[in-house]
Amino acid sequence: MPSIAILGSGNGSNAQAIINAIENGMVDAQIVCIISDVKEAPILKRAHKQNIPSHYIDCSPSPHALRDEAEQSVLALLDSYKAEYIILAGFLRIIKQSLLERFPRRIINIHPSLLPSFPGLSAGEQAFKAGVKETGCTVHYVDSGIDTGDIILQKRVEIHPTDTLDTLMNKIHEVEHIAYPEALKIVFNS
Ligand code: GRF
Repeated sequence: MPSIAILGSGNGSNAQAIINAIENGMVDAQIVCIISDVKEAPILKRAHKQNIPSHYIDCSPSPHALRDEAEQSVLALLDSYKAEYIILAGFLRIIKQSLLERFPRRIINIHPSLLPSFPGLSAGEQAFKAGVKETGCTVHYVDSGIDTGDIILQKRVEIHPTDTLDTLMNKIHEVEHIAYPEALKIVFNS
C-alpha cells in the first residue's frame, strides 16, 4: 500500500476527501503525515482529529516557494515517514527542482480549472471573469512548470448565468472531492 504525505496551506477539504476515501476502502493508501506552511491552517486540525501526524514548516522569508531550509525540513520529514507520494491539496507554494527530482512522477496536485485553461492563482475567478460556460478541476502530476504536468483526470462543472463566484467555487469543490480520490485510485492501481 503506498505511503502518502499530504501538503496543504488551507481548509483541507480535499485532504478530508482523501482521508474519507481511504477510510471507506475506495483508495488503498496510508497517509503518513500532513504538512502545512500555515501554522493555524484547518488542514492541520483535521490531521490532529484523525490522529495523523501533522507538522508546520516555517517557510519564511520565501513568499511563494518551498526552498532551502524549509525544503530540507520537508524532505527530512518525508524520509522519516518513508513517504512514497506527495499529495498537494491546496498547497500554495511552488515545488522546486530538488524535490521534484527526489519524487519523479510521485507528486500530484489538484487545480480548480480544466487545465491547460486558467493555470495559476484564483483559477475559479479567472474562469468566472472570462465568461466561459464551463470549468472544473484537474488532477495532475507536478512538473517544473505552473500547473503544466501530465493530466490524470478532469471533472467538469457548468457555469450558469445565475452563478456567483461563490456558487461556482462550491461546485468546483464538490467535484474536486470526487476527482481527487478517483485520480489516486488510478495512480495507485497502475
Ligand atoms: C482547491 O480548490 C484546490 O483545487 C486548490 O486549492 C483548493 C484547496 O482547497 N489547489 P482545500 O484546502 O482542499 O479545501
